[in-house]
Amino acid sequence: MKNKFLLMLFLLQFCSVGFVFAKVQSLPVSDNETGKNEQRKTLILYYSKMGKTKILAEEVRKLLPAAKFEEIKSDEGLMKAAMWNQLFNKDASIAEIDVDMSKYERVILLSPIWLQKIASPTRAVINTLPLSGKKIRLVITCGGYFGTEAQEELKKHVESKGAKVAGFFVVKTGGKSDEELKETIRKIIQN
Ligand SMILES: Cc1cc2nc3c(=O)[nH]c(=O)nc-3n(C[C@H](O)[C@H](O)[C@H](O)COP(=O)(O)O)c2cc1C
Repeated sequence: MKNKFLLMLFLLQFCSVGFVFAKVQSLPVSDNETGKNEQRKTLILYYSKMGKTKILAEEVRKLLPAAKFEEIKSDEGLMKAAMWNQLFNKDASIAEIDVDMSKYERVILLSPIWLQKIASPTRAVINTLPLSGKKIRLVITCGGYFGTEAQEELKKHVESKGAKVAGFFVVKTGGKSDEELKETIRKIIQN
């Protein structure tokens, strides 16, 4: 009897761990009212210079239609934004992001890397938007290579703002068709 009780306690512990894990990991893709309410607590933010990350972001928007969707805009020239800023870890100047962050529990942040670092307009967002307490899913695009050390540095940077990195995904865009990119992001969001 005592053994059975202990076994039950042991199994219950695993169930609760599994539940907490699932709660952190899953995104509210369901289109019922509960799913939509959860989506409303989600902010999708993206930056894209050449259009690849935009393809992913638009697909995320389709999957989470009640989420808030915002583009990070910067009119800084590529030379300054992608060379000078990247070499010296400077933020690009960006247009104001007019969102009430208190409404959002989770943020899906999509951005390319430039020279193994997050693109400077997105860096500006990480450094200036109040992300503390938010669960952040990072969807990073690269042509073909984003080193593991650089990935760890990016995670640390985001967590230094008090946010929790709840998901980190690298999507290689080089040589991929639009349809392949859409398929990749659908798998990321639906899993
Ligand atoms: C200035 C610059 C630097 C880049 N550096 C890298 C790099 O270090 N590694 C990599 O794999 N791709 C690199 N890329 C490729 C982009 O990260 C990739 O094409 C990305 O998907 C572009 O996103 P976008 O089309 O939304 O702007 C670089 C692109 C640019 C313009």
